[in-house]
Amino acid sequence: MSRAIGSRHSIESSAEAEEYYHFVKDLLDNDTVQKMKNYRHHYSTTCYQHCLNVSYYNYLICRKLGLDSKKAARAGMLHDLFLYDWREKPRIKGERRHGFSHPQKALDNAKREFTLSKREEDMILTHMWPLTISKLPHYAESYVIVVTDKYAAMLEIGQHVKGKVKKLGKKAKNTVLKKVS
Ligand SMILES: [Fe+2]
Ligand SMILES: [Fe+2]
Repeated sequence: MSRAIGSRHSIESSAEAEEYYHFVKDLLDNDTVQKMKNYRHHYSTTCYQHCLNVSYYNYLICRKLGLDSKKAARAGMLHDLFLYDWREKPRIKGERRHGFSHPQKALDNAKREFTLSKREEDMILTHMWPLTISKLPHYAESYVIVVTDKYAAMLEIGQHVKGKVKKLGKKAKNTVLKKVS
């Protein structure tokens, strides 16, 4: 069972996520997409979970705004489709830093597996804007993913910090209990 960070709704079984699940089920079942579970993205969040987070919030926001929520959901799930831990991967000579180069890599990988519309391609390719300053988004949905990508990263960092604080609190409590016993 999976869910987007900050959401109470199960992707596979809740009525609230039923349409979303219908839009992305074939992506979630894909072997290459599944392999993203093996790679860390932001702190303790995997690439798969990050893409799910972006995909789900993209869907919700675009649906609310009357934009193409299906394409938003699908492009969100594929926007960081690369199979490596970007902190550990050595750069080949002449290659740009991960932040600049990975949208094109994700797009190439996604196109190998799925047929994408121009709008979905644009969303994947421009999601790092304004970092990739020359890759200006061409669609309203592309501006939404620019925002949801950063929002998801913030939630993921928050979850990581919360986990660390909880762990420290537990450790401190155990130390105190040991001293008084
Ligand atoms: Fe990205
Ligand atoms: Fe991302």
